[in-house]
Amino acid sequence: MSQLLKGKHIVLGITGGIAAYKSAMLLRLFVKEGAEVQVVMTPAAKEFITPVTLSALSGKPVVSEFFTANTGEWHSHVDLGLWADLMVIAPATASTLGKMANGIADNMLVTTYLSAKEHVMVAPAMDLDMYASPSTKRNLSTLAADGVEIIEAKSGELASHLVGKGRMAEPEEILQRVIAYFSKERDMEGLTVGITLGPTHEMIDPVRFIGNYSTGKMGFAIAEECASRGAKVIAVAGPTSIKPSNPAITVESVTGATEMFEAVESNLAGCDIWVFSAAVADYRPEYVADHKIKREGVDEMTLRLVRNPDIAAYAGAHRDQGQTMIGFSLETDNALANARKKLEKKNLDMVVLNTLADEGAGFGTDTNKVTILNSRGEEKTFPLKSKREVATDIVDSIMRYRKG
Ligand code: C5P
Repeated sequence: MSQLLKGKHIVLGITGGIAAYKSAMLLRLFVKEGAEVQVVMTPAAKEFITPVTLSALSGKPVVSEFFTANTGEWHSHVDLGLWADLMVIAPATASTLGKMANGIADNMLVTTYLSAKEHVMVAPAMDLDMYASPSTKRNLSTLAADGVEIIEAKSGELASHLVGKGRMAEPEEILQRVIAYFSKERDMEGLTVGITLGPTHEMIDPVRFIGNYSTGKMGFAIAEECASRGAKVIAVAGPTSIKPSNPAITVESVTGATEMFEAVESNLAGCDIWVFSAAVADYRPEYVADHKIKREGVDEMTLRLVRNPDIAAYAGAHRDQGQTMIGFSLETDNALANARKKLEKKNLDMVVLNTLADEGAGFGTDTNKVTILNSRGEEKTFPLKSKREVATDIVDSIMRYRKG
């Protein structure tokens, strides 16, 4: 037996869904791979599978209540959160996802989640309508933004006999995700990564700006990926509502391109890798009014714009040996040729191309489809994936490129 999870501490959270019967199989697989597993169940989960089965398989009493009723013994979710190298919640019902996304800590499982210091994965399982409901989608995207890894539900026959998306991923797939998580290399230990992300807001007056639809999702996904591989990350972020979850990411918040340029310039030499994923405005108003501009008596207005600095091009022109620089390219036509031109003109090592023509790619979506080109003339197109998975592909490509 390979024992790929030997010595790992896994908290397996089980919630009240029909798929809970599969959790016994999952637990068995974890144990077979050498993991130590502590099961935490919601009260509803016990209606679907008995704690006796799970404690027999894990070799540990199942935790479900805050106290053991007859002895008054308190179960510490804080200790459990510290003990765990990973928390896997499978199945995760709509109700538990909602509680996790909103911090409603009314059972042992959600309190343990809130105390978890390490990575958390959820494998949702529910009926197709619930899975497709706006509230479940909202909760899943909140959790994804909080750094929780979502193991997507699959399509197939559901307990209701309806057919659609909502089946929990099979235990074997969940096991593979867990193994992948633990075998992820800490291959960026000792490296510092600078990354520009989000839009820029070019101020017109104190309350108005010229901006764009970038959200910073792709950039923060890359930042999280680098941090989870051991890098220190400096995120030079335009206005965005996303907050990173990994403490190895330092955010320098900026508003306009000029400010972003200055933040990059002052960190330029200190970073081994630079990723320029920000959607930087090409122009800014020449003057910023210091009071809100009034419309009274003004029928027409001309805003004079001046060129912003090209941050990536500046960095490419002032790079040190040993630095690796990656740009992004959002093209509508002649995509590949333009991306390659950009790579050369800006003196970058790699360009990540996405086209707005691809459905599910671009601003604000949770998915992206990219082609990665490098200065060695190589190019590779990846299928549509979640931005987190795309981030892994991008960082894998960077690390492969650095190895030469
Ligand atoms: O030339 P274009 O705007 O298409 O290039 C896109 C790439 O250059 C992206 O990596 C973007 O972050 C970067 N860029 C920049 N500063 C600018 C314009 C673009 O860093 N002023």
